[in-house]
Amino acid sequence: MKQLTSSELRSLWFKFYTEKQHAIIDSASVIPENDPTVLFTTAGMHPLVPYLLGQKHPAGRRLADVQKCIRTKDIDEVGDMSHCTFFEMLGNWSLGDYFRKEMIPWSWEFLTDEKWLGIEKDRLAFTVFEGDQDCPRDNEGADLWRSCGVKDDHLFFLPKKHNWWGPAGVTGPCGPDTEMFIIMKEPCGPDCSPACDCGAYLEIWNDVFMQYNKQADGSFIPLEQKNVDTGMGLERVLCVLNGKKSVYETDVFTGIIAKIEQLSGKKYNADDENTKAFRVVADHMRTSTFILGDPRGVSPSNVDQGYILRRLIRRAVRYGMNLGLEAGFTAEIAQVIIDQYKEIYPELSANSAFVLEQLKLEEDRFTRTLRQGEKEFEKVYYNVGQTKILLESILAADDIVACANENAQTKKLRPSPDMMPIIEAAKAGDAAAVKAAIDARLSTLTVLDGRSAFKLYDTYGFPIEMTTELAAEKGLTVDMEDFEARFKQHQETSHAGAEQRFKGGLADASEQTACLHTATHLLQAALRKVLGDEVHQKGSNITAERLRFDFTFGRKVTPEELETVEKLVNEAIEAKVPVTLEEMTVPEAKAQGAMGLFESKYGERVKVYTMGKYSKEICGGPHAKNTGDLVSFKIQKEESSSAGVRRIKATIGRKAE
Ligand code: ALA
Repeated sequence: MKQLTSSELRSLWFKFYTEKQHAIIDSASVIPENDPTVLFTTAGMHPLVPYLLGQKHPAGRRLADVQKCIRTKDIDEVGDMSHCTFFEMLGNWSLGDYFRKEMIPWSWEFLTDEKWLGIEKDRLAFTVFEGDQDCPRDNEGADLWRSCGVKDDHLFFLPKKHNWWGPAGVTGPCGPDTEMFIIMKEPCGPDCSPACDCGAYLEIWNDVFMQYNKQADGSFIPLEQKNVDTGMGLERVLCVLNGKKSVYETDVFTGIIAKIEQLSGKKYNADDENTKAFRVVADHMRTSTFILGDPRGVSPSNVDQGYILRRLIRRAVRYGMNLGLEAGFTAEIAQVIIDQYKEIYPELSANSAFVLEQLKLEEDRFTRTLRQGEKEFEKVYYNVGQTKILLESILAADDIVACANENAQTKKLRPSPDMMPIIEAAKAGDAAAVKAAIDARLSTLTVLDGRSAFKLYDTYGFPIEMTTELAAEKGLTVDMEDFEARFKQHQETSHAGAEQRFKGGLADASEQTACLHTATHLLQAALRKVLGDEVHQKGSNITAERLRFDFTFGRKVTPEELETVEKLVNEAIEAKVPVTLEEMTVPEAKAQGAMGLFESKYGERVKVYTMGKYSKEICGGPHAKNTGDLVSFKIQKEESSSAGVRRIKATIGRKAE
């Protein structure tokens, strides 16, 4: 197979689709602009949802790009050959233009033709949708593959679980797909197929035929506009084309791994006790750098994207410590990542100061947490030690019943469930029973209970691995079964909480979301008016209830200033001005004084939303039709988000039904 670098692969993709009359568009933010149902952009189609649903895209009906994607669901699998929490997805779209009969032969051409990837035909396998009550069997897809020359033993019909894609959030465009696999080794048996997890088949590309809109109640409504949405994982393709053992040996990772080697003095090897640590550090640092370096970048926190970011950085630090990396290493590795990707993703160098600063701060915070956790651990351990000393002193007494009773009276022997058998035996005056109960209790004292371990984790953020290690140093083991039961219960509760937040999905929240989005524009304009041009958007997030806006500003905003800002926004709402949309080129938008990110997101033309004299911003939408739809605006909170960045949370009034 062809040996390709990552930039050669991106170029081939762009060239292929340019020849097929596609417009090449820029990657969108990794933080979805208008979808509160998910935290990150998980696929190339995600930023294009409004266009898949029928809105006109400024760049046309045939698009291609490489999109920055983040998926953290399989975070524990990072370290194997192909899982990454960040990856680049090569994608192309037909917005109501071409469909199956063009896309399948194109996929074949790109995969097998010497001009493109030149993969040997025998090493490819394909799956198509077998059909069910929602959507018919994809015989047309199978026939198209056959006419490319695919043999039936390389073609599989599979159910929805495997051959259906989307929606990205709870509701939205989706449909049956056809997936393309590289055959990595001999199938494991006669029933082996791409559905089998033996590792014989590795998925590299997916063509989705988006023809349904999934509703909040689970039903599928046919879309008027039939689309194609495809996605190819850049790292995976590089790995197989270049015959590497894992994605971590491809050129997107070699520089990062080399830096970790240099800082740790250890050698990376695809298969030894340090492999996982190297890969976790490399993967998590790459993802963290892209989250922080995004135009809508967030800082580590305890909620939403900030929480995932915090988890990634802390995990990287912990695995880094295992490799012997010293404090400050995260920023050094991030610098390598920024340099490596800055040409294709210039936002990384534009935001590099923020990236490096935030990494340093979070590393410091985590180090402090670890120290505090260690202290708490010592307390827990001290209690264990004190109990041991007390029980041993009773055993050594001349009259063990009297001694136990005395300690029960002074409450030194606490009437807790694990001490009650001793107290009761002493009350009954049975010396042999007291001795037996004390021996039983002493034998469990070599185990650190699950409740304490979970408290260390939950209250102090102390990783369980650290607790186990410290416990082992003191000759104790941790009651992992109990810890895991508590952990699971906690996860279920918090997961349920997260899901409940957006039960209705984006569709139900859409009107409110559009209004909050409009309020965000008015807020930014008012902030700049009151505080000056120093104010720039650093992040924005909308839930069904409120907006959150992060912006650059060097000090706390005074209550008087906040009041003026609130007043200005309310003035714009009371003025009831229509929100208008125009498409124009970036220079035109600039000339009109529009705010926004000027690295032309969608090729030539961008959307500019105007709210009378109050605001003019480049943005993808959606917005309220009129500022009056917001009813009223109230700032709920102003606080520091991170060094040099302030955060405002605000709500709007609800329209009367
Ligand atoms: N949206 C499709 C995927 O992510 C292409 O696999």
